[in-house]
Amino acid sequence: MSGGLTALNKITDTILNYNPTEQGVKKRGAESAGSYTLHLSDAFSWLEERDENSVHAIVTDPPYGLKEYTDIEKAKLRKGRGGVWRVPPSFDGCKRSPVPRFTVLTETDIAALRAFFEKFAKQAIRVLVPGGHVIIATNPLLSQYVYIPVMEAGFEKRGEIIRLVQTLRGGDRPKNAHKEFTGVSVMPRSGWEPWGLFRKPCEGRVQDNLRKWSTGGLRRVSGEGPFLDVIRSSVARGEERKIAPHPSLKPQAFMRQVVRAALPLGKGVVLDPFMGAGSTIAAALAVGYTSIGIEHDKTYFQTAEKAVPSLAEMKVKGALSLVSSVGGEGGATERPKTNSHRKGR
Ligand SMILES: C[S@@+](CC[C@H](N)C(=O)[O-])C[C@H]1O[C@@H](n2cnc3c(N)ncnc32)[C@H](O)[C@@H]1O
Repeated sequence: MSGGLTALNKITDTILNYNPTEQGVKKRGAESAGSYTLHLSDAFSWLEERDENSVHAIVTDPPYGLKEYTDIEKAKLRKGRGGVWRVPPSFDGCKRSPVPRFTVLTETDIAALRAFFEKFAKQAIRVLVPGGHVIIATNPLLSQYVYIPVMEAGFEKRGEIIRLVQTLRGGDRPKNAHKEFTGVSVMPRSGWEPWGLFRKPCEGRVQDNLRKWSTGGLRRVSGEGPFLDVIRSSVARGEERKIAPHPSLKPQAFMRQVVRAALPLGKGVVLDPFMGAGSTIAAALAVGYTSIGIEHDKTYFQTAEKAVPSLAEMKVKGALSLVSSVGGEGGATERPKTNSHRKGR
């Protein structure tokens, strides 16, 4: 391993293992550096009340099938029977968590999904400061229904962050005909999760916007290392799931990298309007950022209240490689190629 890479690994370890107790963490209260506030509320009502130009980044994992977080489907999930939630087959010796079956969405569900993201995007662009980013989790089957309304609201698409992870099922043989068609996969077994990356247009050049609003770019991993758009990850496992039992919990190792990148100067407020058990908020706390989390389900909200400080204190393994490698998984040991002379727009 090169000396440069060793230095980058050290920096990443510091990012991933920030000790929040050294920062004088405040739960609730004023939006001061390193504090966080959680609201038990409907995201849309909360966004409506929020001042314009008062949030610096939105990092969120919304209910992208919508159906899966209706009261009926949550009741089925909590009973462990029926509905859109399915337990995927074990592929790595681990017991898998239920995932929603998005292929069951009807045209009406899809229209509702588009309407949901239209509403979200219109409110998001109002509360974000110019140059503020939205980083939004989705999946390869549905991302178009999320991205188009977000762009129609006025956001610029700035790319996608590819989380390399096996979360969705797929790769199955034709149902009830698997013996006849042994060599057929109905669809690919998914090995990645897209996170759409969008930006509210800047006021003037990026440098002007950075000076005025502290936004417009992404925070580099280090002086030498840009933020990369492919991140090797795993599903949240073991201790994290115990601390924060939520069916869509995202792992800290991944969230800390994404949340840190969302504020280029480390200043401002990160919002997660669909926070679930609070993995975004915990990641913000771990990297010393101010954040706000909204959740409308009382059980998940109470889970987040307890989980955020514990998740933030967790040590997670992390190392940089050709793609940012997290969760102790291997990666190429080459130094990342930087492109530090290109001007950003
Ligand atoms: C995909 S989960 C987020 C999980 C989160 N990433 C975590 O790691 O725990 C989406 C969450 O949004 C919540 N939700 C759905 N609609 C909402 C709304 N209108 N307002 C607030 N929360 C909402 C759901 O209850 C669910 O917990």
